[in-house]
Amino acid sequence: MQFDVWSKTLPDLSVECIAAGVFEDGKLGTEAAALDKATGGRIKSIIGRGDFSGKAGETLLLSEAGLKSTRVLLVGLGLERTYGRKGWRRACAAALTAAGRTRIRSVAVAIERPAARELDDYYFGRCVAEITGSVLYRTNDLKTGKKPPAPAIDRVVAGPVRATGIARARHGLEHGRALAAATALQRDLGNLPPNVCTPSYLAERARGLAQQHSSVKVKVLDEAAIRREKMGCFLAVTQGSAEPPRFIVMDYQGPRAPRAAPIVLVGKGITFDSGGISLKDPAAMDEMKYDMMGAASVIGAIAFLAEAKLPIRVVGLVATCENLPDGRAIKPADIVTSASGQTVEILNTDAEGRLILSDTLHYARRFDPSVVVDMATLTGACVIALGAHHTGVMGNDDALAAELVAAGVRADDRAWQLPLTEEYGEQLKTNFADMANVGGREGGAITAAAFLSRFTQGMKWAHMDIAGTAYQGGVHKGATGRPMPLLTDFLVQRAGGG
Ligand code: BES
Ligand code: MN
Ligand code: ZN
Repeated sequence: MQFDVWSKTLPDLSVECIAAGVFEDGKLGTEAAALDKATGGRIKSIIGRGDFSGKAGETLLLSEAGLKSTRVLLVGLGLERTYGRKGWRRACAAALTAAGRTRIRSVAVAIERPAARELDDYYFGRCVAEITGSVLYRTNDLKTGKKPPAPAIDRVVAGPVRATGIARARHGLEHGRALAAATALQRDLGNLPPNVCTPSYLAERARGLAQQHSSVKVKVLDEAAIRREKMGCFLAVTQGSAEPPRFIVMDYQGPRAPRAAPIVLVGKGITFDSGGISLKDPAAMDEMKYDMMGAASVIGAIAFLAEAKLPIRVVGLVATCENLPDGRAIKPADIVTSASGQTVEILNTDAEGRLILSDTLHYARRFDPSVVVDMATLTGACVIALGAHHTGVMGNDDALAAELVAAGVRADDRAWQLPLTEEYGEQLKTNFADMANVGGREGGAITAAAFLSRFTQGMKWAHMDIAGTAYQGGVHKGATGRPMPLLTDFLVQRAGGG
């Protein structure tokens, strides 16, 4: 995909299609007005006839526009008074979706830009590439029938961008392109069936990044090495599965970046969560193939960093295994010893994510990290609390949590902080070990984080519960690509900004 910006001469652009916006009251966006003028009033006459209403998301393709660009795609912008960044995003997505259904190869995005304070040149570029990537993404399905042809679009030019903003917009396009590629990888890993996307498969995909980029080094621990690390909690979860576990260490060293105090990203990589002996209800159990989206997000983040060449050091850690019932599986009431030396009574084998994360968070310590951020489809309780709209953020450092929430706002990938105060930790008390792995139904997203906090003392740490946001069920079942926009925005800011 080729991306660029356009500046002034819209009607002269040599692309196969120009997408321009029309408001719901029939008022033309600035660019649509210019096209109307250049075509002797064609667009106004179409609206006058009532053939296009300008409702948000509506599109109409004019295939003989009488311009250098043979086609014009009208896109509805909705009401002018409520139009802003969200409306622009929606219109861009609608335009690229419509163009993607045709044989059009090159598109000029000429959709009324929201005010600069809502979307500056960097984010404009970044969003164009991000939206293009998400609209053109196709699930790597295993259907054997004839596939619909892939969209033909291979060139997108977006504008208008003033001369002074071109460099920033192009920088945004580059970051957006890296984000789109990383997100496609993250979604692919999630959408693959769990008999393909196994712990070893994730490790191989991580290794692939090291082969592609000299800035990435990857080390994979097998079961024996995991045992040498004394990761008793991780080993407990994997012991019911015939599939070997993997512990993946990815080290991204950006240009001119200090090696000291890296950012450490941690991902939950349960490639299938049956619940174990505390077996889940079968109704939506298939969706538990997505229980590795935290891991996929870490792998995606490393891919993003390598593509965008950010000048920071980031270590990605992934613990990955299956959670299955078996004669050798853990039982409720088993007590295990974590790598940190603390003992854990496993009262519910379905609270496995926190077990594998606890040993991974402990492993993070050796890097003396500036911050640690873990991502996990950790609790159904988080989905109840926040629905599918916000990722849950918790942690032991409010500034770091605020940084993540702010990244989510900028990236339109929102997160909300939940209060991880001391009281929640009391719910983990048990008579038989240092802590239990569950704290009852109440505040379930937070008691899970309280468990993790026992392994992060002395480090600045935040936890993102992406159970509600990383994938969706129903007819549109699939990985959503979240929290890649938030996560990459956070990394870009940490690297000094876009
Ligand atoms: N992977 C699940 C969490 C989950 C549930 C993600 C629904 C997405 C949708 C996790 O391992 C789990 O099973 N958590 C339990 C914890 C409980 C036993 C304390 C849960 O949320 O029910
Ligand atoms: Mn579980
Ligand atoms: Zn799980």
